[in-house]
Amino acid sequence: MTPPSDPAAPGSAALFARARAVTPGGVNSPVRAFQAVGGTPRFIESARGAFLRDVDGTEYVDLVCSWGPVLLGHAHPAVQEAVAAAVARGTSYGTPTRPEVELAEEIVDRTPVDQVRLVSSGTEATMSAIRLARGFTGRDLIVKFAGCYHGHVDSLLAAAGSGLATFAVPGTPGVPAASTAATMVLPYNDRAAVERVFAEHGDEIACLVTEASPGNMGVVPPLPGFNGFLADICARHGALFVSDEVMTGFRVARSGQWGLDGAREGWRPDLLTFGKVMGGGFPAAAFGGRADVMGMLSPDGPVYQAGTLSGNPVATTAGLATLRAATDAVYAHIDRAAGLLAEEVDKALAEAGVPHVVQAGGNMFSVFLFDDPVEAVRDFATASAQNLDRYAAFFHAMLGQGIYLPPSAFEAWFLSSAHDDQVLDRVVAALPVAARAAAAVPPRGEA
Ligand SMILES: Cc1ncc(COP(=O)(O)O)c(C=O)c1O
Repeated sequence: MTPPSDPAAPGSAALFARARAVTPGGVNSPVRAFQAVGGTPRFIESARGAFLRDVDGTEYVDLVCSWGPVLLGHAHPAVQEAVAAAVARGTSYGTPTRPEVELAEEIVDRTPVDQVRLVSSGTEATMSAIRLARGFTGRDLIVKFAGCYHGHVDSLLAAAGSGLATFAVPGTPGVPAASTAATMVLPYNDRAAVERVFAEHGDEIACLVTEASPGNMGVVPPLPGFNGFLADICARHGALFVSDEVMTGFRVARSGQWGLDGAREGWRPDLLTFGKVMGGGFPAAAFGGRADVMGMLSPDGPVYQAGTLSGNPVATTAGLATLRAATDAVYAHIDRAAGLLAEEVDKALAEAGVPHVVQAGGNMFSVFLFDDPVEAVRDFATASAQNLDRYAAFFHAMLGQGIYLPPSAFEAWFLSSAHDDQVLDRVVAALPVAARAAAAVPPRGEA
């Protein structure tokens, strides 16, 4: 199929046509294809600070930040210098190295994990954490929440079955029913559903896995006390509480989402998963937790896990340089910028008369555009009631004004320490046009 030509981005359109000939959908990760919003994905040639530049030379304020990793802005000098020096020393040895020890120490210092194992992607981290939880407990069942994404792990690509306490069905072709038969999918933020499942299956559950503060159904933060409740109910039933901080880790705070709730409330997950920011823009991720649980991992224990490029010296150097530069001032800056921007988005949509919810979890936020007023989005069912055509119109109106938003309504907006007041002003100036474009889309049923 020939992709539509795009007069605004002829270079991207031409590359997209070539890409589609040799790569399914023309992309190496589906959301990049713009299928949720239509049009031509921008092929980016370079990035600096808060800006992306595409192959046509058009510049965009970047509110995706590589889907989270870019905490310090693109091409941060400290990260670049550290990476250049690392590359000059060779790129992979297949042996233990100093930077991986130092990165692990930094993670142990910031988070409640006793020990950590480095891997190459968030998917690998959650997959390995689940294997470890099953190995440690000797149980098979997993509990997860609808709308939480944990990477493309077979057992977690699960959709809720016909009833709440029933087992899940595969969420995609290619996942055997056997892989999701031991997974249960519950509505997010629903304590009663969690209590029911533990009452019925408590002594069979290996772990409950949740995004520490979900960003993959749009931003739907945990209700106050919800994560602590999950930690407690897992502990009471001998199940492990696995908090997925791949997105939130080292982004929403120095110690991730746990720094915003668990550290203050006095509980900790048994296992945590990390990725994105800790790789400094390179493929690096991790899982870690209680020493007795991590001690089950090979080579000390019987649960097998390995990786040729795990703890790669360039990736760990980039991650370490990023975390060392991620000071309290960086988090304070991003918190303020995200707060201001979320407020302006809310204002512009209200002025245009678009029923909407702008919702934040720490310094991540997102916007939900509806046909009718909705008070808050607490779960995936409510998030799914959005009018996605309204978001597509909003997205393209922003893109046309040089603002690059997530090309899907089910994603978080990310900022960096390079998003200064001048950059924010540019985004704010574009909002009224985009809000009016969203308002011009008729409610579904009237279209
Ligand atoms: C919360 C969460 N967990 C896991 C993953 C998977 O990470 P990766 O894409 O590095 O495999 C993601 C990716 O977006 C994520 O947001």
